[in-house]
Amino acid sequence: MNAQTTMIKNYHQRTKHTLQHYAKGPETIDWDDQPDPFRYFSGCTRYALPAPGQALSVLFTELDQPQTITAHALNLKSVGLLLELSFGLSCWKGFDANRWALRCNPSSGNLHPTEAYLIATNHHFVPAGVYHYLSYEHSLEQRCQFHEPTTESAIFIGLSSIHWREAWKYGERAFRYCQHDIGHALGALRYAAASLGWSIDILFTAADTDIASLLGLNRQTDFIPKEHESPDVLCRIQIADHAPMAYLDIMALVAQATWFGTADSLRAYHLYDWPIIDDATLATEKSLTHEAPWLTTRQDPLPSHCEKTASQIIRQRRSAQQFDGKMSPLAHDKFFRILSATLPNAPAFGFWQMPPKVDLFIFVHRVDGLAPGLYVLLRETSRLPALQQACLSSFSWNKHHDDLAFYQLYTGDLKLIAKTLSCHQPIASDSAFSLAMVAEFDASLAITPWKYRQLFWECGLIGQILYLEAEAAEMRGTGIGCYFDDSVHEVLGLKDETFQSLYHFTIGKAREDQRLQTSPAYGHLQLKSS
Ligand SMILES: Cc1cc2nc3c(=O)[nH]c(=O)nc-3n(C[C@H](O)[C@H](O)[C@H](O)COP(=O)(O)O)c2cc1C
Repeated sequence: MNAQTTMIKNYHQRTKHTLQHYAKGPETIDWDDQPDPFRYFSGCTRYALPAPGQALSVLFTELDQPQTITAHALNLKSVGLLLELSFGLSCWKGFDANRWALRCNPSSGNLHPTEAYLIATNHHFVPAGVYHYLSYEHSLEQRCQFHEPTTESAIFIGLSSIHWREAWKYGERAFRYCQHDIGHALGALRYAAASLGWSIDILFTAADTDIASLLGLNRQTDFIPKEHESPDVLCRIQIADHAPMAYLDIMALVAQATWFGTADSLRAYHLYDWPIIDDATLATEKSLTHEAPWLTTRQDPLPSHCEKTASQIIRQRRSAQQFDGKMSPLAHDKFFRILSATLPNAPAFGFWQMPPKVDLFIFVHRVDGLAPGLYVLLRETSRLPALQQACLSSFSWNKHHDDLAFYQLYTGDLKLIAKTLSCHQPIASDSAFSLAMVAEFDASLAITPWKYRQLFWECGLIGQILYLEAEAAEMRGTGIGCYFDDSVHEVLGLKDETFQSLYHFTIGKAREDQRLQTSPAYGHLQLKSS
């Protein structure tokens, strides 16, 4: 094992929550000191995007056949929609004098460490260059201008993380949550692109240092040191009839660009330091890789009866804070539709092109036609013998579905266990079902330590699919980052690090908090212009 792998495995061990104590985090939190969830760059030209909130006619179920959706032309309006439906605001919530924005992409603690950048290779709709997306204003801040734009119009989206925004509340475990959020953001981007008839290529080959140069994140004097952004991922947006451009071609454009602006302070006092997050970042740095894409035959998920448009589902997505523990059971077909949408050959995963490493262990509480108990959905059937070997020998492994690798393991009421495992949170037991995402851990990290981040991205992407599928099934979901890692492993019988649980999720009938007021996502822009 090399030093980086040892480092990241130590990080993983050290940031486990246990029944006895939580991973190291701040002892006190001053809410007035919360880092600004919106990043602004001073000294950049700002381009307002067309008014947000436009409805698209594409139905959510049509996203099952993305190739049948007519591609929108590439222009400022469609790019605005892409960014809004991925990373834009979805509403404001309020309680007494406090107001906070929610976005189309979720984030642990609503802290939003993810920043999004647009790269436009020619002057087609904005001057060619790199732009930071400012979701608060729904505008683009021009970070640089290319001097030799290409003749072809192409767009790329780059994502980065401000780890400190998350660590402010969650301390050492925050690095994990930042990676989950990237997975959610990738999912959000895919759904938004598919709604416009576009698709996404994740450029997994790109080195972190290249992504940093492309997005200007390596321009150290442009950022306050503790508020720097770490490069994560680069995506090429594929629009019908546009030839794909290699990312190395945009490296050449950036090399001769003029840069503008500096990042404003996030206006927070840096009371605590979490140096282990910098160590984890370094240990999992991605270099230029040449992994062949993992390809599979695409298969339709089981049918959905949702009649809403994709943009409605995307904008209405929220996390449930409480569930109705007396709900009537979730319909059998809805349950299996939700699960089938997370499979590696389902359309929402088509752009991942990496071998699936994550399976779902499901605590069924209230699902029509299923006895309460523990089940597993294998997203890769070849893992069956290894999981059977690793899990409790008393599990029954009764196959319970004709088309899905869905097995019943144990029958019994697991509500209390599910709640306890998820840091005593009732959202894990009052729902229709909750689940643990269990990843092939050791073997993945043996390839390269950066796979640590990719495993969390895969979990985040599954989480984003679950969020939207829950809405389409007239339910609601919530990501669960707080769980007692090794207690989950103990319940499943997992004894070493061959498999590790990396994320939890829960879906049920939400109970709304009537004390909260809701206001429109971009009402503040109308107030400003009136
Ligand atoms: C990675 C991740 C972990 C989360 N963990 C929890 C959790 O443990 N408990 C919880 O109640 N909500 C959790 N959430 C939900 C967030 O609090 C929620 O996404 C955030 O407040 C924004 O609200 P929204 O999802 O309605 O936009 C998590 C979300 C994500 C993305």
